[in-house]
Amino acid sequence: MKTRVLMVCLGNICRSPLAEGILKSKVDPNKVFVDSAGTGSWHIGSEPDKRSIVTAKRYDLNITDQRGRQFSKHDFKDFDYIFVMDNSNFKDVMSMAETDEDRKKVHLILEEIFPSENVDVPDPYHGGEQGFENVYQMLNEACEIIAEKLEKGTL
Ligand code: 4NP
Repeated sequence: MKTRVLMVCLGNICRSPLAEGILKSKVDPNKVFVDSAGTGSWHIGSEPDKRSIVTAKRYDLNITDQRGRQFSKHDFKDFDYIFVMDNSNFKDVMSMAETDEDRKKVHLILEEIFPSENVDVPDPYHGGEQGFENVYQMLNEACEIIAEKLEKGTL
């Protein structure tokens, strides 16, 4: 059985598509399934934001096949780990959880780098290109740790 990891942000066009692409590049696809979703519905069916596509491409990642989808409560059953980008996503996802088992699956992704510091991956949507590079660097570091833990079975 593959371990299933879901990356969640608000729109599913900027941060979580990058997180999905980065983690996919660091794990064995035969062992780990990675997907992403947004808590909002505006970008269902959309490609990732052009700035996320360009940022990913700079690091040899192709995320153009991804399409936006909305997080649903079924995702609690379908995934083993749900990594959210910020505290607002955390609140939204937790409000849909029905059991303690559901709640235990939800983690703020930057806790992997800064445990117990409650740090957000900033939403780059209304900013410039540099915001996307910044997001990439944070997610790359967090996903490196997540991939290592998945490999060791310590996540
Ligand atoms: P994301 O960024 O949550 O990183 O995908 C956003 C993209 C779009 C919107 C908000 C955040 N929006 O309001 O359309």
